[in-house]
Amino acid sequence: MIDVSDILDALRWHADIGCDEAIGDTPLDWATLTARAAARAPSTAPAAGSVPANGGGATRGQPAPRPAPRPAAAFAGTPFADPAQPLGASEAGVSARARAGEARTLAELEAALRAFDGCPLKATAMNTVFADGNPEATVMLVGEAPGEDEDRQGKPFVGVSGRLLDRMLAQIGLDRGAIYITNILPWRPPGNRSPTQAEIAACLPFLERHIALVKPKLLVALGGVSAKTLLNRAEGITRLRGQWRDYDAAGGPVPLLPMLHPAYLLRNPIAKREAWRDMLSLRQRMNEVAAKSS
Ligand code: URA
Repeated sequence: MIDVSDILDALRWHADIGCDEAIGDTPLDWATLTARAAARAPSTAPAAGSVPANGGGATRGQPAPRPAPRPAAAFAGTPFADPAQPLGASEAGVSARARAGEARTLAELEAALRAFDGCPLKATAMNTVFADGNPEATVMLVGEAPGEDEDRQGKPFVGVSGRLLDRMLAQIGLDRGAIYITNILPWRPPGNRSPTQAEIAACLPFLERHIALVKPKLLVALGGVSAKTLLNRAEGITRLRGQWRDYDAAGGPVPLLPMLHPAYLLRNPIAKREAWRDMLSLRQRMNEVAAKSS
């Protein structure tokens, strides 16, 4: 008879390791895949992913044992590197830089990103979220990563925080046709967890090339992950926000305004005061840019 507590233990274990979504109709049997790949690999390493005698499941009252780390060779023949040890950030980053660097247009860059397998987040995401808005716009906004709605629709900032962002932009006379928007990561982290440094490092060359191709006059970093990544700084967003700094783009410095993330504003409505100041600062800079180019 099936013991319900075993099932609950197994579910809890999956949630703990970040498996909170089903991505296919049929489960992938990693034990068989890794054993086959290990048999093919010319390695003296112990049998990969060998399953413990109890089948690897949970025993009542005890968490299920975690599988032993798999040697990288075990993932040969699968589309991704070992998810426990994603392609060394630098290895993925080097591959991303080479592919992104070959793109001469946004369409080519999007195609290269969709074909890139160096970031394990791609495996759990439903869609690659590239960008939205007008690539000719003066200002390019960069958020953190797609959430659930964005992952489903394949567009950035279409969920609840996107709707707040749209209202904020409307206050200074902007809509999606007057801005361009993307994220640090094009794939949703499972359960909306924070991105890891390895994931950011693997995808960053695509964003850098994205900015180089769009050549925005102004940048806005939405939230701490975006601000820290683009400015290469350690301070939190509450310190960085509201101060224009230069983003070091391939074609020369681009003024960048760090702002509070709309999701943060939803949780902390009192912070909308600061966000409003930042929106006015953005409007003023945009007016200055427009005046210079007229
Ligand atoms: N939060 C982000 O940072 N980006 C999105 O696209 C949606 C929510």
